[in-house]
Amino acid sequence: MEIKHHYQLKEHNTFGVSAFAKAYSAVTSLQQLREVLGFYCEQELFILGGGSNMLIINDLERPVVHIMLKGTEVQKQENGTVILKVMAGENWHEVVLFCIQNNFAGIENLALIPGNTGTAPIQNIGAYGVELKDVFYSCDVMEVSTGKESTLSKADCKFGYRDSIFKNEALGKYVITSVKFELKDLNVTQEYTLNTNYGVLQEEMNQLPGNNDINKVAQAVINIRTNKLPDPRIIGNSGSFFKNPIILRSEYDDLVRMHPQLPCYEVDEDRVKIPAGWLIDQSGFKGKRYGDAGVHDKQALVLVNHGKATGKEILEVARNIQKAVKLRFGIVIETEVNLIEN
Ligand code: EPU
Repeated sequence: MEIKHHYQLKEHNTFGVSAFAKAYSAVTSLQQLREVLGFYCEQELFILGGGSNMLIINDLERPVVHIMLKGTEVQKQENGTVILKVMAGENWHEVVLFCIQNNFAGIENLALIPGNTGTAPIQNIGAYGVELKDVFYSCDVMEVSTGKESTLSKADCKFGYRDSIFKNEALGKYVITSVKFELKDLNVTQEYTLNTNYGVLQEEMNQLPGNNDINKVAQAVINIRTNKLPDPRIIGNSGSFFKNPIILRSEYDDLVRMHPQLPCYEVDEDRVKIPAGWLIDQSGFKGKRYGDAGVHDKQALVLVNHGKATGKEILEVARNIQKAVKLRFGIVIETEVNLIEN
């Protein structure tokens, strides 16, 4: 096991902010992970995956353990279903491409989401009408304090909108080492309905030639994302910085009198979801730049680092947005990315 000291994390977070880890170890096998966890014993650690859903505010005092476990394996193929086991360090979009090449359906709507497979369940990644939980079968975890390995089922993970047990009662408790997905095997069955209900996805599909299939869905999603969302390799960002707030329908009815254009999506009988991007846009932040920190010009939900912004500077923009939205609409918008303070 190798420990690097005063290790620069700029390359390991998609915001591209400069921050140092006091101690950093990369692990490429379960054995190495066991050793590292044993070495640090009861110390609080920072488990790093693809670094695509976090904003590092300060240098990290906690030892950083970078999960680089690799491997993708088809485990079971029967009755038109396939169980695919993917190690935590595999890049998510590569997994989507693997599935399309192999004719496995279920995650094509989730194309081009940055990050690694092991961190995907933590925030239950979702886009264009599909969430990770729709195809999640189980995940293997290692307990940080004991090194004990176990398997968590879908029910155990308590998935919600951008939420899971890993953000709540199990926060910091486990390292997710691999994830199993249950997908449709289109090599043997045609019993699969493409998920193209999301308005813009349907429109983009109509523009593309050829039959409607999983490949075309992925291509449409890739086109939409490329047009609307900044590529973290070019402009630092962590996707949606805020969650879309869920409010009571009665609150919505009051608000819409003052803001007749206010969009909403139904959650259940009593609640609706409001696009935070709209609230931020209407509050005048879209495309704004404060030094190197700013708001993306095509999607107000995404904060960006134009170059040398620090975590603190980006956080300040976020706090100002939250205040302005609260003042104008009375709605609290919560951050979706994890704020890493130490
Ligand atoms: N809108 C604006 N101005 C903006 C942005 C959005 O007015 O600058 C309004 C528009 O009315 C638009 C609506 O917001 O119709 C919704 O926008 P969009 O369809 O782009 O979706 P979103 O709610 O902004 C969510 C996810 C995205 C995901 C898309 C597509 C969250 C927090 N974000 O964004 O996820 O790709 O839906 O499914 O739920 C991510 O989590 O990092 C992410 C990018």
